[in-house]
Amino acid sequence: MKILGIETSCDETGIALVEANGGLKNPRFRVIKNLVASQIKIHAPFGGVVPNLAKREHEKNLPILYKKLLGRFTSKFDAVAVTTGPGLEPCLWEGINFAQSLAKEHKKPIVAVNHMAGHLASILLGGKNENIRFPALALLVSGGHTELVLMKGWLNYKIVGETLDDAVGEAFDKVARLLGLPYPGGPALSKLADKSNVKHQMFNIKLPRPMINSKDFNFSFSGLKTAVLYALRDNPKINKAALAKEFQNSAIEVLVIKTLKAVEKHKPKTLIVAGGVAANKHLRKELIKTINSRRLPLKTFFPEKSFTGDNAAMIAVAGYFHALKRDFTKPAKLKASGRLSL
Ligand code: KG4
Ligand code: ZN
Repeated sequence: MKILGIETSCDETGIALVEANGGLKNPRFRVIKNLVASQIKIHAPFGGVVPNLAKREHEKNLPILYKKLLGRFTSKFDAVAVTTGPGLEPCLWEGINFAQSLAKEHKKPIVAVNHMAGHLASILLGGKNENIRFPALALLVSGGHTELVLMKGWLNYKIVGETLDDAVGEAFDKVARLLGLPYPGGPALSKLADKSNVKHQMFNIKLPRPMINSKDFNFSFSGLKTAVLYALRDNPKINKAALAKEFQNSAIEVLVIKTLKAVEKHKPKTLIVAGGVAANKHLRKELIKTINSRRLPLKTFFPEKSFTGDNAAMIAVAGYFHALKRDFTKPAKLKASGRLSL
């Protein structure tokens, strides 16, 4: 089955064509084409995503990308998968409108996909991660979400923990801004942290590890961001690389400890980490190190680096699962839901 994916929830316009086989038991995917138009240059001068500018860019980019996608194979697809939430509603509507017109023109069914379900499915792209055993636990870390999700199967999700305020990617972005780094802040902050060296230890920076000892699986990152603000205010000569490193250490330590606490309780066979922040090298290293040191019988999967950020291939993969269940939505019933939950 060939699925055409469409993703416009935030500041990346994505269109992809994915071939899917194997059913729910043994799903396999081949990415025929995955196109992403990034809007970094448009939003960078504003230090963050401007929803109306993003909407306009999606409107402009979608037909251009679709034209690029069209080829010998791509005029044929069996279903259209489109992100309907969560995200910025004006942006989501652009993708929905485009999906509606394509479905009508080609007389194909539409599946509505939750963007976070797309991130979960992103670990299946790249061709080597097919054998996911359930129950699985997923740590979803992006610019809008920080969630621990218990998965009994594909499309069978239960959130067991989440952030009470800022998402971890959002905290990276806000702290990056405080440090004078360009948008998007997460990767820039991580690069700066790598520049910190032993000499910087003289600054002796210690930030809090919010909620690290709480009994639940929830998170909080807004206090950590404020602690960085105060550290900068109280010590103008502070080394920014050292501060970036301590912030990253703190955020990642909380993610790792909380995830392992949830592993202890729910005893999953598989651990999945997905979302934009899954690209963070320190998170990957610390999580694997801790799992190995505790000798946990747990297989851990991260998406391939090129599929950690927003893309339409992951939406097509999640769309396949819906299509298998014949979970189609009538085009006129499609609706953008900015706050859609898993
Ligand atoms: O999943 P994503 O592309 O979009 C959302 O669904 O939000 O995630 C974007 C987030 C941004 O906050 C970005 O700063 C963060 O992921 N991010 C990173 C890294 N790469 C992207 N955060 C920390 N370290 C990175 N290497
Ligand atoms: Zn995302």
